[in-house]
Amino acid sequence: MTTLAILTAAGSGTRLGREIPKAFVDVGGVPMIALAARGLAASGVVDAVVITAPPGRSADMVAAVGPLSVPCDVVEGGATRQASVAAGLGRADAATDVVLVHDAARPLAPPALVERVVTAVRSGRSAVVPGLPVTDTIKRVVPDGGSPAAPGGESAQPVERVVDTLDRTALRAVQTPQGFDRELLQRAHAEGAARAAAEHLAATDDAGLVEALGVPVHMVRGDAAALKITTAHDLAVAELLLEGR
Ligand code: CTP
Ligand code: MG
Repeated sequence: MTTLAILTAAGSGTRLGREIPKAFVDVGGVPMIALAARGLAASGVVDAVVITAPPGRSADMVAAVGPLSVPCDVVEGGATRQASVAAGLGRADAATDVVLVHDAARPLAPPALVERVVTAVRSGRSAVVPGLPVTDTIKRVVPDGGSPAAPGGESAQPVERVVDTLDRTALRAVQTPQGFDRELLQRAHAEGAARAAAEHLAATDDAGLVEALGVPVHMVRGDAAALKITTAHDLAVAELLLEGR
């Protein structure tokens, strides 16, 4: 009975706009990948970590992570996040019964959150995601052809038309780590993407691939500290959170 955590770090970080891949960017003076890996190890419920690195950057990744209290392996990721997770999943052996998938872009995910997800999987839920209530009003929109130039001569902005307002009490913003029964996640990666495409389902995370199989996905309480660093704004927020720890 072992838990393997796949830590996705093969992205380039286009929206963050740095010269280096996002996982190598420091938060509070420590590379994001090292913080994320330490958070997983500190949970006490992760037995091994496999990191997906950008092509040709595996040795740099090992160096950036530094010493870790659990075994850590690095594999090259793929062109998409899904392909990277699949590459990491290739390292899960028959002794692995639970797989966690976590984004290096969420370096401050607290160990207690990791534990919450793994405990839920070990109590019989075969797919578990952390989620938080949404606080903004969420509206569905469609493009609205017109793109009028502002009177002051400013450049034209795209305009969208609101279709409806969603009931936010039923909505959750989903985070990582997501936890799965190993065989279920392998089946989801083998079959889920094609099914999701055929049925026009959004499968933008691993749980989405499981949903496409028709298997129930459960949710536990997320944590605001597990925010995803996408933009420079997010990085500034993460720096402040780390200062306060
Ligand atoms: N990721 C990955 N392999 C890819 C793409 C993304 O392992 N081919 C990882 C990223 O490293 C990140 C996580 O998936 O930890 C979530 O992706 P995102 O936040 O979109 O990171 P990037 O793809 O690096 O950023 P951007 O989309 O701005 O380029
Ligand atoms: Mg991306």
